[in-house]
Amino acid sequence: MTTRRKFPAGFLFGAATSSYQIEGAWNEDGKGENIWDTLTHSQPECIKDGENGDIACDSYHLYKQDVRMLKELGARFYRFSISWSRILPTGYTNEINKSGIEYYNNLIDELLSNNIEPMVTMFHWDLPQPLQNLGGWTNSVIADRFEDYAYVLFSHFGDKVKWWVTINEPTSIIMGYSMSIGMAPNVMTPDQGQYLVMHTILLAHARAYRLYDRNFREKQKGKISLAHSFNWFEPKTDSEEDRLSVERTLQMTTGWVLHPIFSSTGDYPPLMKNWLREKCKKEGYKTSHLPEFTAEEVELIKGSCDFLGINHYTTFFVKSGLSGFTLCKDAEITMVQDESFKTAASMWLQVIPSGLRKLLSWISKEYGKLPILITENGYSDHGEINDTDRIDYFNKYLNSLWEAINEDGCNVFGYTAWSLMDNFEWISGYTEKFGLYHVDFSDPERKRTQKRSVKFISQLFKTNEIPL
Ligand code: NOJ
Repeated sequence: MTTRRKFPAGFLFGAATSSYQIEGAWNEDGKGENIWDTLTHSQPECIKDGENGDIACDSYHLYKQDVRMLKELGARFYRFSISWSRILPTGYTNEINKSGIEYYNNLIDELLSNNIEPMVTMFHWDLPQPLQNLGGWTNSVIADRFEDYAYVLFSHFGDKVKWWVTINEPTSIIMGYSMSIGMAPNVMTPDQGQYLVMHTILLAHARAYRLYDRNFREKQKGKISLAHSFNWFEPKTDSEEDRLSVERTLQMTTGWVLHPIFSSTGDYPPLMKNWLREKCKKEGYKTSHLPEFTAEEVELIKGSCDFLGINHYTTFFVKSGLSGFTLCKDAEITMVQDESFKTAASMWLQVIPSGLRKLLSWISKEYGKLPILITENGYSDHGEINDTDRIDYFNKYLNSLWEAINEDGCNVFGYTAWSLMDNFEWISGYTEKFGLYHVDFSDPERKRTQKRSVKFISQLFKTNEIPL
């Protein structure tokens, strides 16, 4: 056995899930309705198999089994999310659902008594429906409601929870407001909509962060971040145009979220501001779609993370001009795949491990050596128990991560496998499986079974070494 590829002592290894994807009990014990309940019930055609998260993995009832699995894995922490509408059924603090508080307290206690640290995502896409009725994230009032919700979470759980992730993948939330792919709330706002959504999200995040600073940090001594979806981009060809397209894509996806928080300006990236100003002008708009931060907001947002959470899965190839699938229409780029790479069950996910190392270097170059936690990384198949492709994926991506730390000096302090178990994969329903544990969705008991990758991951989690 080699000892060369060993992660540093104290490196954090854990696994992740999210409330809507695993909990079920969608209308039990006083939980309110959220946008994923609404979407899957009223427009099941948006979901590949017409399914929903009404029962999902039934973790609302089976959470003790989940903790046993985490223990078996040797996880140091468990990143799970709290369902806003299970705590505040109306989205507002007029009504606090005691059963919801009790459920998460039980889960947290079960984790702690097994020596597993809870890491809580406060918002993983399941917005209370009453708040969507106000326009959801396009309405800046949602930042106020998020701060109220954060207050409830810090005051009920903050004595035991030391790791907080405010918002999961801001750029994915945008999709529900700007791309007709069926993500909740599945409303197509005018072109400016996505920029308003991001603006509110950044403010909501920062408001929760500052609230913690003011009222809780001294006593609770926790750490707060957000989880940013950062897939890497490569130019399709070596042409100058394609290379510039990559930089534009980076600034208009990742920079959009990270620049206001981690740059010294506390504002959107200059390239993005200029590009949108010119583009909007050309299209006859009076002002840019990109909102401005006030001086006060700049101060609020700048530096509002104790570390940076990165969700990473794949690399996309980018070519200039809008001629097909794109994650960033306004950047006037198209994303294509390179057939020579292996593709997972999720057709967007190709196995290109070097992307992880490259993006970590890019972050260092742009924002300095930030403390980084990989908040998600994983591979989808169709639910095989003998999941050798997943093992191969983890092995390669973890090697890339090891190189980023040891050869490029990136300051990554932990890694989270997505996901602890098979679950409801949003618009793909139950057709794509990311779990370390298999879940039998045809079984009323939702039997969980170890996959082969559990051996690989538990060996890594327990020894800090990538097993070869
Ligand atoms: C990122 C999301 O946070 C998670 O909910 C999803 O299941 C994975 N990507 C895989 O698509």
